[in-house]
Amino acid sequence: MSSDNPDNSRRKFLTGSLTFVGGTGAAATLWPFLSSMAPSNKAKAAGAPVKVDISGLKEGEKIDLIWRKKPIWVVKRSQDMLESIDTNDTKHKDPLSENPEQQPDFAKNKYRSLKPEILVLEGVCTHLGCNPAYKPDTTDTSLGKDFKGGFFCACHGSKFDFAGKVSNGSPAGANLKVPPYRFEDENTIIVGELPANKLEEIG
Ligand code: FES
Repeated sequence: MSSDNPDNSRRKFLTGSLTFVGGTGAAATLWPFLSSMAPSNKAKAAGAPVKVDISGLKEGEKIDLIWRKKPIWVVKRSQDMLESIDTNDTKHKDPLSENPEQQPDFAKNKYRSLKPEILVLEGVCTHLGCNPAYKPDTTDTSLGKDFKGGFFCACHGSKFDFAGKVSNGSPAGANLKVPPYRFEDENTIIVGELPANKLEEIG
């Protein structure tokens, strides 16, 4: 493993500063207390956008949060992780992210993201809905020599790269979904809003 890869202590579940946007005012709190933040029922039903502070996120680390009752991951990809992403290959079912259901238009690019280093994904396997495990080690060949890290669904063995692209041979048929999101500033992501705030485009 290169020096860029996280060690076990860095793989821990990170706490992030999360805020539901809108309502009577934004209230920041840490993840363990997320459930007590109590946005209004109306806001919950509408799937209120969630604000994520990534100022403390280090290379290889992942923040977990919930948006619209779905697990969302925010990963800061290292250079090794970025270099492992290849769109000109035959190893993936949708290498060019051509399935429009799986990402907003802004993420139809090599890294499936607004910024190469920051990945935002729904943590739901596109086979039968299990939650894939994060595999941040680009040198771990225990899942096959062609797998250079990413995400692995242990339910039935689907593999996804560091852009969430599903490998050929996986039971999952589609890439992991990229949710709508935008950057409010360099260190703040709003999950649930598109860059142009075109919320009506969100399904
Ligand atoms: S639910 Fe993920 S491989 Fe079946």
